[in-house]
Amino acid sequence: MRVLATAPLPGPARDELTDVELADAWPPCEPRPGVEAVALPNLRVDAEVLDLLPDLRLVANFAVGYDQVDVAACRARGVAVTNTPGVLDAATADLAFGLLLAARRRIVEGDGCVRRGEWECHWSEGPMLGREVSGATLGIVGLGRIGSAVARRAEAFDMRVIHHNRTSGIPLDDLLREADAVSIHAPLTPESAGLVSRERLALLHDGATLVNTARGGLVDEDALVDELASGRITAGLDVFVHEPHVPERLRGLPNVVLTPHLGSATVETRAAMTRIVVDNILAADRGEPLLTPVG
Ligand code: 8YV
Repeated sequence: MRVLATAPLPGPARDELTDVELADAWPPCEPRPGVEAVALPNLRVDAEVLDLLPDLRLVANFAVGYDQVDVAACRARGVAVTNTPGVLDAATADLAFGLLLAARRRIVEGDGCVRRGEWECHWSEGPMLGREVSGATLGIVGLGRIGSAVARRAEAFDMRVIHHNRTSGIPLDDLLREADAVSIHAPLTPESAGLVSRERLALLHDGATLVNTARGGLVDEDALVDELASGRITAGLDVFVHEPHVPERLRGLPNVVLTPHLGSATVETRAAMTRIVVDNILAADRGEPLLTPVG
């Protein structure tokens, strides 16, 4: 099966694919007949992209989230879509918890003080005090596999955990009012886009922390920047609305910790994701059932 990949697949399983070409652009600049599978990290695949890939049979998404893949358009052309569920829960939960700790305990600001040789800055610029993690209430928005893994970490830190799901937990507005920290783990869909709106961000109490390792589009990014600029809340953000663009104003704020979509970025997890991508491509090639089809 001829495979077009948008980046080198990490990990040993990639060697099991014999015909992989690296795309020099995405979407491709010109039609690519002969390509039967694409491997990409949740990049745009819609009718326009499918027009460029007339022989495509499989979109092997290198991510659990597939919000940029138009599954209905793929289905209409007989193109299957797969994702990589299950193997990245721990890595993503670790990063979410790391961002929570870093934002609440001002770890990145402190690191800056030390690097600038300003050991005393936490005294000279006013006491550099963070917010307690232990004993705080963590609100989890989306208690699926990753949200549950974050809940387990929070319990080990003596946090109280509350959650909001479409079908269980407490209403989102109540969660935002009650939580000292909020961690988002919902999929981005037309229904969930902008879920944490300007009005809802205003419900967070002073000193609260917002962590987002899911999708930038779940939060009103402009409103979040306004709240952060007011100094009222802190945040840890791994995802943004228009990646790789991160708003200039956000990059200038000290009370937000920013990472470049690193949720699944460990050697072990990325290799496990490649294993699933490769197994799906091999299964499609043999006409066998796919491991992790979506839609
Ligand atoms: C990224 C992710 O796909 O699985 C997801 O939904 O967002 C991540 O795993 C990965 O970091 C590559 O960009």
